[in-house]
Amino acid sequence: MSVQHDPVQRADFDQVMVPNYAPAAFIPVRGAGSRVWDQSGRELIDFAGGIAVNVLGHAHPALVKALTEQANTLWHVSNVFTNEPALRLAKKLVDATFAERVFFCNSGAEANEAAFKLARRVAHDKFGPEKCEIIAAVNSFHGRTLFTVSVGGQPKYSDGFGPKIQGISHVPFNDLDALKAAISDKTCAVVLEPIQGEGGVLPIDQAYLQGARELCDQHDALLVLDEVQTGMGRSGSLFAYQHYGVTPDILTSAKSLGGGFPIGAMLTTSECAKHLVVGTHGTTYGGNPLACAVGEAVIDVINTPEVLEGVHVKHRRFKSKLEQIGQQYGLFSEVRGLGLLIGCVLADAWKGKAKTLLDAAAAEGLMVLQAGPDVVRFAPSLVVEDADIDEGLARFERAVIKLTQA
Ligand SMILES: Cc1ncc(COP(=O)(O)O)c(C=O)c1O
Repeated sequence: MSVQHDPVQRADFDQVMVPNYAPAAFIPVRGAGSRVWDQSGRELIDFAGGIAVNVLGHAHPALVKALTEQANTLWHVSNVFTNEPALRLAKKLVDATFAERVFFCNSGAEANEAAFKLARRVAHDKFGPEKCEIIAAVNSFHGRTLFTVSVGGQPKYSDGFGPKIQGISHVPFNDLDALKAAISDKTCAVVLEPIQGEGGVLPIDQAYLQGARELCDQHDALLVLDEVQTGMGRSGSLFAYQHYGVTPDILTSAKSLGGGFPIGAMLTTSECAKHLVVGTHGTTYGGNPLACAVGEAVIDVINTPEVLEGVHVKHRRFKSKLEQIGQQYGLFSEVRGLGLLIGCVLADAWKGKAKTLLDAAAAEGLMVLQAGPDVVRFAPSLVVEDADIDEGLARFERAVIKLTQA
């Protein structure tokens, strides 16, 4: 028997919520696969994926099964005890990656917070307090806590909150000479996204990532890869570092790891992990059985040749149609990204209009994302049906046509 709830509507948001978001005019109430329905029963195709989170779409049977089974078994015990789903998920992450140790938390920002603290701790223990500097990239995004906005390379997120965390510098992305000039023996970590997600879906250059790895080794600094957006199959490899063949010391994951259930993880080597001894770091919900049971189901489905190969095939389907739309309407100057994290860079005539395109797409029954004012971003389910890709892009094209006629 379903519970009867008081009716609510979009206007209530402005009455009861902190105004830090500006959600769309409609309220989604149900999802299945790559389709979502709003309160009025209107159906939309979802290429936004909850900002690169709903990696297996909505209500995937394997995830629903894992969550409901766990919900009937054990919800929470804290880290005073360990639990079976956390241990199983950690083993699977260790087996599938460079990592030998895992720390669980609840979000991408928390995973990065742990990564940055660990990097400083390792340097502090091994080399002393002077080695505490972190180098990150201009335009990068690592979360919204004070440490993560300080490391993130976008002042619009870090300014206006008083003093930032000290010892952080930003260098232009994909500019190896700039990194070479900035790094020193005081550097404890270089932090990079394999694809700058929020910064415009900008993939890292192979030579730059390789060069960053070498510079880190030369200066006893750790290479931290933020795979919160690129991880868990989105690039067509389980993690994007595997696509590039450059191994980090610390990797962070969240978003797709839980397929919609909140979870984050920091992956690292035993050599680094040993510095976070008992009591140095923690979080009440980290490794929560519900989250980890879902995460285990996600990795079981994702880390298979069928799904990962499918990501490449679907990438090509998206890309060829998007390029055709881009050319036909003079809309895009470039379609870029890896796997199912695709960014369409708006041509000069459309600059600044990503939000306009988003709204026009939603009016046609399609959810897409922006990555800044000049990039339309697609982050659909990795198992989105071909028919949904075709129909979703047809809706996108209709939105573009309407805008060109307006
Ligand atoms: C690369 C990257 N790092 C960190 C985060 C922050 O994750 P969360 O919002 O779960 O804290 C995001 C979110 O967009 C991200 O894209």
